[in-house]
Amino acid sequence: DQPTSEKLVELAKRRGYFFQSSGAYGGVGGFYTFGPQGASLKGNVEDAWRDRFAVAEGNMEIDAPTIMPEPVFEASGHLEGFDDMLVECPECGESHRADHVVEDNTSYEDAESLPIPEVEEVIAEYELVCPSCGAGLADQAVETFNLMFDTNIGPGDSQPGYLRPETAQGIFVEFPRLKEYARNQLPFGVTQIGRAYRNEISPRRSIIRTREFTQAELEYFVDPETDEPPLERVADVEVRLYPVGEQNDEDGSEIETTIGDAVEEGVIADEWVAYFLGVAKPWYEAVGVDMDRFRFRQHLSGERAHYAADCWDAESEIDGNWIEMAGFANRTDYDLSKHEEYSEDRFTVFKQYDEPKTVERATVDPDMSYLGPEFGGAAQEVVSELETLAERDRSAFEGETVEIELEGESHELPVEKTGFSVDEETIAGEHVTPHVIEPSFGVDRVVYTVLHHAYSEDEVDGEERTYLELDPEVAPTFVGVFPLQSDDELEAVANDVVDDLRKAGLSVTYDDSGNIGRRYRRQDEVGTPFCVTIDYETVEAEETTVTVRERDSTEQKRLAVDDLAETLAAIRNG
Ligand code: GAP
Repeated sequence: DQPTSEKLVELAKRRGYFFQSSGAYGGVGGFYTFGPQGASLKGNVEDAWRDRFAVAEGNMEIDAPTIMPEPVFEASGHLEGFDDMLVECPECGESHRADHVVEDNTSYEDAESLPIPEVEEVIAEYELVCPSCGAGLADQAVETFNLMFDTNIGPGDSQPGYLRPETAQGIFVEFPRLKEYARNQLPFGVTQIGRAYRNEISPRRSIIRTREFTQAELEYFVDPETDEPPLERVADVEVRLYPVGEQNDEDGSEIETTIGDAVEEGVIADEWVAYFLGVAKPWYEAVGVDMDRFRFRQHLSGERAHYAADCWDAESEIDGNWIEMAGFANRTDYDLSKHEEYSEDRFTVFKQYDEPKTVERATVDPDMSYLGPEFGGAAQEVVSELETLAERDRSAFEGETVEIELEGESHELPVEKTGFSVDEETIAGEHVTPHVIEPSFGVDRVVYTVLHHAYSEDEVDGEERTYLELDPEVAPTFVGVFPLQSDDELEAVANDVVDDLRKAGLSVTYDDSGNIGRRYRRQDEVGTPFCVTIDYETVEAEETTVTVRERDSTEQKRLAVDDLAETLAAIRNG
């Protein structure tokens, strides 16, 4: 039997959900165009995300450029480390992701986290072959391949730029402005929905792994010392969890629990991550992800990104495989500290104390001039040593020495000779580098999962039928309007009905071609929840009524035309 994903990809093309781009030129791997239905469904998913993660949570939204200059990615670590493992076929020249070749043909589940020499060993040991042409890969070197698309900003190559590989960096880089809009008050969150680009070595499974895709990300900035999430709001949310412990255990199985219990029992250690898992689960359910095919999985330590302290993925089941739809990571102060280090700006928030505090500050002659020029660079090292001393009684310095290493030689310096002093200072507050909790959603993967989970087949009047059981709140086309036959009188009423429904804010399609059964089937495949047919009873009976057919049950009812728009709009708006 043909897998659902293959049937879905055919339906998606036939009904205008998505298809490979630039088909007229042979198409290019990893780029997809959302057709009229797909663009609308994707827009509905984005709106639903915005409503939940920006508006309902009280977070800001920004819209930053997709191209950013090189120093941003030097600081973020992407230039250095945003790599995948590539192996090139010696016969056909095709490149493949080495870890995918390993995972697809051995029992290794997390080859991405293996070091390159080990991946090469596995390829040789299992005599793995090129997925395209079958040639042996055993003697091929595995290389790293940076996934960022590069470009030049302006003429010449003096200002290299990159297409952002995650929308997050657009938020981090603007932090010095954004914290002002938040009036320097932690915690606060910033969202962004937009395109991200990764030059994936092997794009696959249609829109699940592409080279240009849409992310919806929230960067939530907290004071790690004092801020706590409102866990009580999500404590009762039921979740299916697959924590590291269960994965490492050979008989590992998922745990069904609530967010509150998972935190209490230490299954989810990071309370902020737990909070956002609790917000996310009902959201996924509301847009139409099947909760029997949904879980949260904790990353194994080798799997975590360079910046993440703890990470959980939201996963959906697609034809027996689990795919990642979103990552929930605690990025700590990694990104803001890096941008502070590499840029000229301040990536901290000034935290004002309730009462000013008196503190002791240790200082030291910055040039170490008293000790001679060879100690000129050592001031910082001396200060660090002395600061631990400064916490003690001052008289304790007398006769003390500090030991520092300078060009491989160890020196003992009497404390008095360093120009060291401790002064009292009154301060109003301190600079805090916020920690970042990041729910990062792939919009395309939500769209794919929603379609896949909605894909249904049954039999109607002895004929096989395919339909998309899309939730009325996200379905791209909400209602089809059909005049039963080509007839001026029926068409005039149908046009009026279309106008009324559009005025009520509903997305309507008008179809007067083919027999009525065919028109219903067409809308079933699009996933249109309702069809309205204008027949002779509509125009002949005393009361003007129309037939309303419901997609899933195929049941038909007659409804007064005057009540139609209001009744359907109420369903649409939940
Ligand atoms: N800012 C964090 C970040 O970018 P990620 O796990 O690399 O984390 C987040 O990406 C989400 O973006 C993933 O969970 C996935 O849904 C989506 N995503 C990542 N790469 C993708 C690709 N090549 N095609 C489609 N979606 C992708």
